[in-house]
Amino acid sequence: MNAAVVSNIAYLVAAVLFIAGLKGLSHPRSAVRGNLMGAVGMLLAIVVTLLQQGIMSFELILLGMLAGALVGAVFALKIQMTAMPQLVGLFNGFGGIASVLVAGAVLYQAVMAMSATAAGAAAGTGGVATVAGAPDLQFTIATAFSGLIGAVTFFGSVIAFGKLQGIVTEKPVRYPGEQVVKVLVLLVTIAFGVMVVLDPAQISNYWYLSAAGSLLGVLLVIAIGGADMPIVIALLNSYSGLAAAATGFVLSNNILIIAGSLVGASGIILTQIMCKAMNRSLANVLFGGVGAVVESAAQGDIYAGKVKSTSAEEVAMILKSAQRVVFVPGYGMAVARAQTPVRLLTELMEKDGIEVEFGIHPVAGRMPGHMNVLLAEENISYDKLREMDQINATFSNTDVTIVLGANDVVNPIAREASGSPISGMPILDVDKSRTVVVIKRSLGAGFAGIPNPLFAAENTLMLFADGKKAMDDLVAAYKDA
Ligand code: TAP
Repeated sequence: MNAAVVSNIAYLVAAVLFIAGLKGLSHPRSAVRGNLMGAVGMLLAIVVTLLQQGIMSFELILLGMLAGALVGAVFALKIQMTAMPQLVGLFNGFGGIASVLVAGAVLYQAVMAMSATAAGAAAGTGGVATVAGAPDLQFTIATAFSGLIGAVTFFGSVIAFGKLQGIVTEKPVRYPGEQVVKVLVLLVTIAFGVMVVLDPAQISNYWYLSAAGSLLGVLLVIAIGGADMPIVIALLNSYSGLAAAATGFVLSNNILIIAGSLVGASGIILTQIMCKAMNRSLANVLFGGVGAVVESAAQGDIYAGKVKSTSAEEVAMILKSAQRVVFVPGYGMAVARAQTPVRLLTELMEKDGIEVEFGIHPVAGRMPGHMNVLLAEENISYDKLREMDQINATFSNTDVTIVLGANDVVNPIAREASGSPISGMPILDVDKSRTVVVIKRSLGAGFAGIPNPLFAAENTLMLFADGKKAMDDLVAAYKDA
């Protein structure tokens, strides 16, 4: 068996591991195993690639790996959980720029080889300057795609990172003739792409293509509100996969084509899931320019004289007489890092024979699976975590629902067909429980910027405090009650 066959078999094994790993990631119980399978697949792919290719300098590769590992470790240790979306965004961007640089370097190499052949032919020393020496169509098309998608991904991701980090304005940047400008830049980018394909020897065309793609990435993302960034990041993640797949064609590397395609497909599926859970279309996210905080005028009318505040002691008494309690965590739990006292209170209530479950909305928090990750940090059993459809059927038999730092995902306004940014978004029907306790610092709005009639409902009690402080107080009060 020759080396190419062996490496292709190893790549096939790696691809199977990637796919099985992705399948594992679809459920919390198998997610760790899935992650491990993906990592083993990647290790196998890297080792085989390093052995198979004519590597010029292992020292440089090692240096690059060390530098990358160092940067990755620093990010992973320093980053706050709430800043995870921008970190993921930045990593997508790194994938994009890697595709641009690798495809550019390979094109440069091919052009150099071509001119060497031509020079050889001219000097009569062998080598024929024919099309046989020129890069073929698959190579040049793939190179153009790598440059284009990679540049859009990198600069789009940098802007997304800036918006989420507060470095770039969070508001959508709109201007007259915006769509015309974007179409023009797209046409210029495509024109450079065609020039790369028709005349690969003009290497400068590739860099012009990358520059135009970069501008396109900036224009596309700057027009989107900071609040929609998590969806855009999922989309850019998909783009980074497509750029990697295109680079796989440039390098004729099968595993890069497979891995890139998997990232591209899973990114677009995630984008779709997020859009659906927020009741938005992708076109609305990309071109609608919404996502900026919408101020609502009706707040006074909704809350006036109807909001009842409570204390940790009172809530503890209510919990003591409950048989079934549901926690509904939201973004505020992540900000307050309140998951530890949540676990403690769960344990105390379960000791008293109270049934405790968690209702998880698909877009609670600011990134997919945000709440699941925080609760998993506390080793809260997956069996207690219920998805929206499952838990909604049970709220009418729930004595107390504790809404911890959630707002939009429990806002009954969403049931109205139109008229608000969340109209039509499926929500957790917490208002059907006997008593609802909402823990948050004020009557302030959530991500969608609108008031929430739940806070003024007959069966709702508001516990105004930071999520962590409120939960610590509640644990202490429950022990004393
Ligand atoms: P939000 O509607 O954003 O509400 C969070 C609430 O947490 C705020 O009203 C805030 O009220 C409270 N809060 C903030 N800091 C707190 C603290 N230290 N202690 C206690 N409470 C605190 O959250 P949600 O219900 O989780 O909904 C998520 C929203 O994000 C949805 O609109 C969703 O569409 C959007 N979104 C989600 C995703 C993903 S993938 N998850 C992606 C993009 C957008 P106070 O200021 O009064 O405390």
